[in-house]
Amino acid sequence: MKIFCEALLVISAFAVWSSATSSADVHAQGATPVKVIFDTDFSIPPQDDGLALALAIKSPELQVLGVTTVAGNDTMQRATSDALRELEIAGRSDIPVYRGANRPLVHEKSDWAATVHGKWWSDEAPAMPPGGFAKTQAQTESAVSYIIRTVNANPGEVTIIAIGPLTNIAMAIRLEPGLAQKIKKLAIMGGAIGSIDGGAGNITPNAEFNFWVDPEAAQVVVRSGIPISLTGLNVTRKTNFTKNWYDKIVAVDTPLTRLIKERMDAGYARNPTRSGQMYDELTVGTVIDPTLVKSKDMYVDVDINHGPDYGVSVGAMKPWEGGENAKQISVQYDVDFERFMTMYVARVTKK
Ligand code: RIB
Ligand code: CA
Repeated sequence: MKIFCEALLVISAFAVWSSATSSADVHAQGATPVKVIFDTDFSIPPQDDGLALALAIKSPELQVLGVTTVAGNDTMQRATSDALRELEIAGRSDIPVYRGANRPLVHEKSDWAATVHGKWWSDEAPAMPPGGFAKTQAQTESAVSYIIRTVNANPGEVTIIAIGPLTNIAMAIRLEPGLAQKIKKLAIMGGAIGSIDGGAGNITPNAEFNFWVDPEAAQVVVRSGIPISLTGLNVTRKTNFTKNWYDKIVAVDTPLTRLIKERMDAGYARNPTRSGQMYDELTVGTVIDPTLVKSKDMYVDVDINHGPDYGVSVGAMKPWEGGENAKQISVQYDVDFERFMTMYVARVTKK
């Protein structure tokens, strides 16, 4: 439970904080919502994926076309049944859920994998979500087929929010010629860039969990040429979900806030000073309003050598010897956390 423990302890020269027109303001003026595929190693809150989906479905700037699941924090089956149940609780069973990769491309179970964090290597049956399994079933089409079909039908229009291991996205890129050129943008929660502040790993000394679970997929995706905005540990370490924010959420009674309360109250009662990083929630937030974060364009690649740095994301302002395949992507490094949380609370408490 390394990530959870860490969570509990808690230039670009060109980038500036913007209090000017935010995406939210633009939307209020009538902008078309961003078409989004939500790719996730989901579990119901307190898991961050569950809290992130709550934000996405409550934000008018986003049109969540579908949810695709992947093995990561838990099994793909748990990701699927929990996502279906949260959507049901939120009254959004109209959003289809597609079952994705049950295992990473190459990474096999090891003693380390089995003991530190995550159930991506397991085939155990999913636990029953709160209130029982959803009535709606997952679609029969696979997540990879759905991603390809949807992007082909909407070339240049689909943003993929990828907040788990990148297995589904890599498989779709590998399967379909020209797919990468048709994806508008990838908003990824993953990686940690060691050459800038806050770049240590959270699962091995230098690797972030999502990239480490499927390093080969992360490399395919980072090298794909798709415009990428990376919400890595560098920026999520500047977030801190404390009880005062939690209290504001559960002060309002909605089906979603009731779920959050049911799942998180005991933890806060046991330890009112607990706090956690908002990994996946921030990724969604930056698609809604990119002015929430400061970013810089960096050359990034992923180490797939089976040694101590397996799954490590390496980044620099310029290409380096041995890093010739690195691609320039936008790396977030700072956040206006107060403004993000104000938005988060307002959205998630919406009736
Ligand atoms: O390292 C944090 C990431 O790993 C988050 O996406 C969390 O949900 C887990 O998947
Ligand atoms: Ca996740």
